[in-house]
Amino acid sequence: MPIIKNCKIVLIDDEEGIRKITSITLEDRGYIVQTAADGEAGLHLCQETRPHIVLTDVRMPKMDGLEVLANLKKKLPDIEVIVITAFGDIETAVKALRLDASDFITKPLNDDALHTALDRAQERYISRKQVQDHTLLLEKGWAHTTQDLIRTFNFQENLIESSMDGIMGCDPDGTIVTFNRSMAAMLDYPKEKVISKMALDQFLSAEDADKLQNALQAPHYGGENKLYLYETVLSHRSGKAIPVQVSASVLFEQGKKSGTVYYFRNLQEIKKLEQEMAVQARILHQDKMISLGKLAASIVHEINNPLAGVLNYIRLMIRILNRGPLEADRQLKFQRYLDLVEKEIDRCSKLLSSLLTFSRKPSSAFTQVDVNDLLDRCILLSQHKLELQRIKLETRIDAQIHPVNGDYNQLQQCVINLIFNAVDAMPDGGFVSLQAGHDMQKEIVTIAVRDSGSGIDEKDLPRIFEPFFTTKQEGYGVGLGLSTVYGIIKNHKGIINASSPPGEGAVFTIELPFVSNAG
Ligand SMILES: Nc1ncnc2c1ncn2[C@@H]1O[C@H](COP(=O)(O)OP(=O)(O)OP(=O)(O)O)[C@@H](O)[C@H]1O
Ligand SMILES: [Mg+2]
Repeated sequence: MPIIKNCKIVLIDDEEGIRKITSITLEDRGYIVQTAADGEAGLHLCQETRPHIVLTDVRMPKMDGLEVLANLKKKLPDIEVIVITAFGDIETAVKALRLDASDFITKPLNDDALHTALDRAQERYISRKQVQDHTLLLEKGWAHTTQDLIRTFNFQENLIESSMDGIMGCDPDGTIVTFNRSMAAMLDYPKEKVISKMALDQFLSAEDADKLQNALQAPHYGGENKLYLYETVLSHRSGKAIPVQVSASVLFEQGKKSGTVYYFRNLQEIKKLEQEMAVQARILHQDKMISLGKLAASIVHEINNPLAGVLNYIRLMIRILNRGPLEADRQLKFQRYLDLVEKEIDRCSKLLSSLLTFSRKPSSAFTQVDVNDLLDRCILLSQHKLELQRIKLETRIDAQIHPVNGDYNQLQQCVINLIFNAVDAMPDGGFVSLQAGHDMQKEIVTIAVRDSGSGIDEKDLPRIFEPFFTTKQEGYGVGLGLSTVYGIIKNHKGIINASSPPGEGAVFTIELPFVSNAG
């Protein structure tokens, strides 16, 4: 019984008798046999039928058995070839084995020898097939794994490359092995000039490099072998210092340090923004100090006058009291004097408290602002200045204006700045109108300051909100008032408009949105 199911054999022999007898023996055993009378016909048959085993005589005219074997091994290497040699022809047998024959048998053919050789050839065939299948499977698996690896690698490469933060990987010696796009852009170094050629230390001052390594080892910044939100400075190719925030991790493989990965965030923009904000805050404060100075000057008069009055009344009352007990009609007068004193002192106290509110340190916290109360205080603070310059104040302020979310102090600064500008525009007197109300549909509060002053020149109109733009004489204006107003209103998500209709003075209109979105 053949080991291989439907085992096909091609028998090549020039002796017809041998072909016939051997075929019968083999078919009898269950093999499928086809025969050829010479080497060439045998090869042809093999190509057509792809047998498992070829039995070939060596000695044949034209193409001998060894040539058949060599040809088969070249073209159809899967086929097992058993050569049939003449008895005692060891030399040919060795040649055949060298050419990778499975076996050789000698003539005259012995049944046992033939079947043993066929069994061995089949085993060889099967195990080679198994090895082939296995190799194929391995190759397939390997190709799959390779593809997976490539995909994972590409994904990770992409991940590193697309990071907005700079990523730098160093081997245990500190040599840079990863340097992503953001890193290259941040420091203006092309990747190929850095990878395997430079170390992180070359981007840091010696002192900063030491500090960074110490911080990495110390437990304070995210733990040992870790660094979290540490700040340092890298040097750009031009030598410029780039402030950065670093997070880093020492990597370990099987307990051994395998490198360090650093994540750098460029702080340049943030630092610039911080500086700009500091400048803005300074301007806001500067403007406020100027306004405060102007207010204080006018309020000194405002308080001085009532205080002089109060003093007079008190002196008068003391004088009367010194004369002896109070008569009934005097008592009534006293009552009136005291009422006046109380009123004047109350007014002074209100003025001072408004001034205090105004000078309060700015707090960025927004609260609900009562617009009516805010405007009352603005009027109180500027009243005297208006009176001094013979300016009439007209108010058209709706009762119970919808509150806005904002900074009371800053909004007050805006209105005062607008009123003071109006005053400055009317050295010979005039009128200021303060209007306010709300629009429930548009959900805005409107505050307008209008004056009968000189108006704003058309060419100046686009520039009045610029910081330090002033048309006033030196010592009279810095040019910060309107730019501050603009900044504050913008911060409140509102808008401010200025217009100057010919011959009508100037109009400034502030619109503030209702409620919570201002914060
Ligand atoms: N009501 C107004 N009428 C006419 N011109 C005005 C009026 N308000 C502002 N301006 C013009 O706008 C310019 C800029 O005003 P802004 O308040 O910013 O600065 P300033 O008043 O000149 O100086 P500061 O307010 O810093 O003391 C003024 O110099 C003036 O030319
Ligand atoms: Mg001004």
